[in-house]
Amino acid sequence: MRVQVAILGGGPSGLALARLLGLAGVEAVVLERRDRAHVLSRIRAGVLEWGSADLLRAAGVGARMDAEGQVHDGTVLASDGTATRIDFRDLVGRSVMVYGQTEVTRDLCEALDRDGPRVIHGAEVVAVEGLEDARARVIWQDQAGARHEVAADWVAGCDGFHGAGRRTMAAGPLKAFERVYPFGWLGVLTERPPASAEVLYARHDRGFALASMRNPRLSRYYIQVPEGTRAEAWSDDAFWDELRRRLPTETAEALRTGPALEKSVAPLRSYVGEPMRRGRLFLCGDAAHIVPPTGAKGLNLALGDVRLLAEALIPACLSGDLAGVEAYSARALDRVWQAERFSWWMTTLMHLFPESGAFGLRMQRAELAHLARSRAARQALAEAYTGVSL
Ligand code: FAD
Ligand code: DHB
Repeated sequence: MRVQVAILGGGPSGLALARLLGLAGVEAVVLERRDRAHVLSRIRAGVLEWGSADLLRAAGVGARMDAEGQVHDGTVLASDGTATRIDFRDLVGRSVMVYGQTEVTRDLCEALDRDGPRVIHGAEVVAVEGLEDARARVIWQDQAGARHEVAADWVAGCDGFHGAGRRTMAAGPLKAFERVYPFGWLGVLTERPPASAEVLYARHDRGFALASMRNPRLSRYYIQVPEGTRAEAWSDDAFWDELRRRLPTETAEALRTGPALEKSVAPLRSYVGEPMRRGRLFLCGDAAHIVPPTGAKGLNLALGDVRLLAEALIPACLSGDLAGVEAYSARALDRVWQAERFSWWMTTLMHLFPESGAFGLRMQRAELAHLARSRAARQALAEAYTGVSL
């Protein structure tokens, strides 16, 4: 097979890139290791920046999001019995869209089924070769173990942190910047109305908690747990008890518990690999960078890369204009570091870090008090959260 762009990975980055390239008339194929049901069932991000929602609209996959997604004009930071609302509308004139990653993925899959490009499921990429040659070669293996090859002018590594794109890049002059946090998030999805009307981040002496939602009937909650915690070690009842202890009283009283439809632990990590391009290979989304989830930047950052990569590849494929290709890594990394800064800051502000002691705790409280008093501080948070300044 021969295409202009081979896309590794059919998560949100790979599918969105395929859609934008397909609309522009660029020939592409998506190679995805897992089956479609697996990809569609992964419960991950829940909050879209307005710029991400606009990208999906421009890609012709925004109709269900606009009909069923919830526009949120603010978020809440709670600690020590006080709650500070960050009023996005008032502070920066923007909102965010609550619409799950599972729904974004489903909308993209349906559009690609209808219009192409093709997504090959059960296709595990094992190697990418010829990055400096006239054409690159992507070697993949099907579920029966047979090997196949795709020749491509360009290769987009959208295959996440454990994919072949990052592995191939790491064989060259990749510089990695990383911080692994000594805790994770235990998340539960349940079919009950949300306890809080807006996404609520709670700092607590027992550890962080988050009250979020997918729609008016479906809630998503997280609690900070020590590194290495297994989700099976937590019964539903133990999870609800611990969540209640960490949420503000009013939210805890409004909490409606139900059976966990999904329960999993996500580790927390900050990671950036530089550069994001080597020869014919580009990295995009989680393959290039990871943010801790506090602040909901992961998926938004991935979609930001997709926009820049589509802007680079479309002129390269249609008219041989390589200006965007040359600029991609620097342009993407500029945004990536801003999102890394915000996600690290918000993680540091809201989580329990046993090693930072009493001084660290006082710093968190002082910072939260500053946010409550200072409109300028709230505005800076609102800019970063909604994506205005990224
Ligand atoms: P991925 O979603 O990782 O997709 C990569 C795809 O590539 C996968 O489908 C994988 O199967 C495929 N693949 C991997 N290797 C190969 C290979 N060799 N060959 C072919 N295919 C391959 N973000 C938030 O904003 N909020 C959250 O609450 C949140 N929770 C998260 C929880 C977890 C457990 C994780 C891992 C991430 C979470 N994120 C969250 C981050 C967000 O989900 C990611 O930023 C987003 O999924 C990135 O999309 P992606 O397409 O770049 O990568
Ligand atoms: C969700 C996840 C986040 O990381 C976040 O900051 C807000 C909401 C969620 O899964 O709903």
